[in-house]
This record gives sequence, C-alpha cells and structure tokens, in this order.
Amino acid sequence: MIEAVVFDAYGTLYDVQSVAAITEEALPGYGEIITQIWRIKQLEYSWLRSLMRRYQDFSVITRESLAYTLRVLGLEYDSDLFERIVGKYLELELYPDVMPTLSAMQSRKLAILSNGSPVMLETLVRNSGLDRMLDATISIDSQRLFKPAPEAYSLIESILGVPPADVLFISSNPWDACGAKAFGLNVAWIERVTPEAMALAFVKSDVVSPLTMFNAIRTQIDELGLKPDYRIHALSELPGLIAAHES
Ligand code: LAC
Repeated sequence: MIEAVVFDAYGTLYDVQSVAAITEEALPGYGEIITQIWRIKQLEYSWLRSLMRRYQDFSVITRESLAYTLRVLGLEYDSDLFERIVGKYLELELYPDVMPTLSAMQSRKLAILSNGSPVMLETLVRNSGLDRMLDATISIDSQRLFKPAPEAYSLIESILGVPPADVLFISSNPWDACGAKAFGLNVAWIERVTPEAMALAFVKSDVVSPLTMFNAIRTQIDELGLKPDYRIHALSELPGLIAAHES
C-alpha cells in the first residue's frame, strides 16, 4: 500500500531550465551556457560539501554556483543583476502536469523531499500555489547532508511517519532516483529525455550544445548498479502506476 507519495523538487516538479529566459535577458548570448553550468555546479557543490562535511544550505550553494559560472565565463555583473538571476529560483515554473496529478492523488500523503533550504522551498511552494496541495515540504537541512545521503531520505519516515516500503518517491534526477533506491524506497524515475532523443541530439549537430551536454550528464540513468522500480515519462502516469502497484 502506498501511503505517501514524495517528490523531488528541482527538475521533477519545478523546471530548472526555466531560469534560461532570465539568464538570456540579463546576459544576452549566454543564457543557455549559464543555465547549464550553474545547475551542474550547484549539484556538484552539494555533493562536495556533504563529502567535506562543510554544509552550507542550498541557497548559499545556489549563489556560489552562479558566482562560479559568471566568473568562468568572464562576465561582469553588479549585485542587482545577480539578485535578479538568483531570484528566479524562488519562482521556477512548474511542469504542466503537476497540478492535475497532485489533485488526482489527494487521498494520499503528498510531500516534497528536497535539497533546497527551508526558506527557498517554502517560498517556491507558496509562489507556485503548491502549498494547498502538499501535506509537507521537507528540506534535508536538519541533517546537514544532501541527497543522495541516506540520512536525507530517512527524513521521510521521521517526518511523515511512513516506512520506506509504503512510500513512492519520484524524481527525474537519475542520481536521486538511485539514491532513493539504495535507501530502500519504492522509486519512480521520470525519464524526461529518452535515450533515442539523446542519441539524435548528437547525430544532428556538429557542435554539441550546452543543453545537450547537460542532458548527457544529468538526465540519463546512471551506472551505479541501482535500478528504479518504475520508469515514467510524465507525472500524469502516477495515479495509474500506483493503482497497478497496489493490485
Ligand atoms: C532537489 C534537487 C537538488 O533535491 O533536485 O530538489
């Protein structure tokens, strides 16, 4: 029986690529490369800080990774421009099927488990209207270790009171889907970029775009010896998947 359905936030409910419009408007010609380096470094810093036991919350990491990105691209900026770009993290766009899917699952406990800081997540969830749909927004902050550390996933049981066997965890991030599986949750991975689309992106162009490079690094299932229980292509598949899981 699936008692709780728990979602990753960035990349799963919220489109991290939706920062591309503001980065392009702020620094024309650089939008795509900023968007991709920023997200790659943001995740890298979360894992490095966990390994070094030098925790800083995700809002600090999000700022530091943006500062890194702008510096390596040789871009000059003032604090207004920086704040305008980083502020988008509080207003990221929801994927279109989030609201209808969450509405269809209101009989279950619904929650977010994210590496985001409590303030970032609460603001984002409120700004997008998801606060009305969720029972809990859980930040890993109290553990001072980021996903995919087991300590982060253990917060689901301690906060929602639901054991791993009765949780379905959903992430589009392969590293997160693998981490959740290693911890012992039921896992549905959203494959947002199919292997066929990935292969085609390389065939079609001589020069690999930053987005294609990002997709190759961060959207395909990892070789970690861990396999999510389910592979889906849209959140809207979830109600049917849960019904099948329980039958
Ligand atoms: C999350 C990220 C980092 O935990 O995708 O929401």
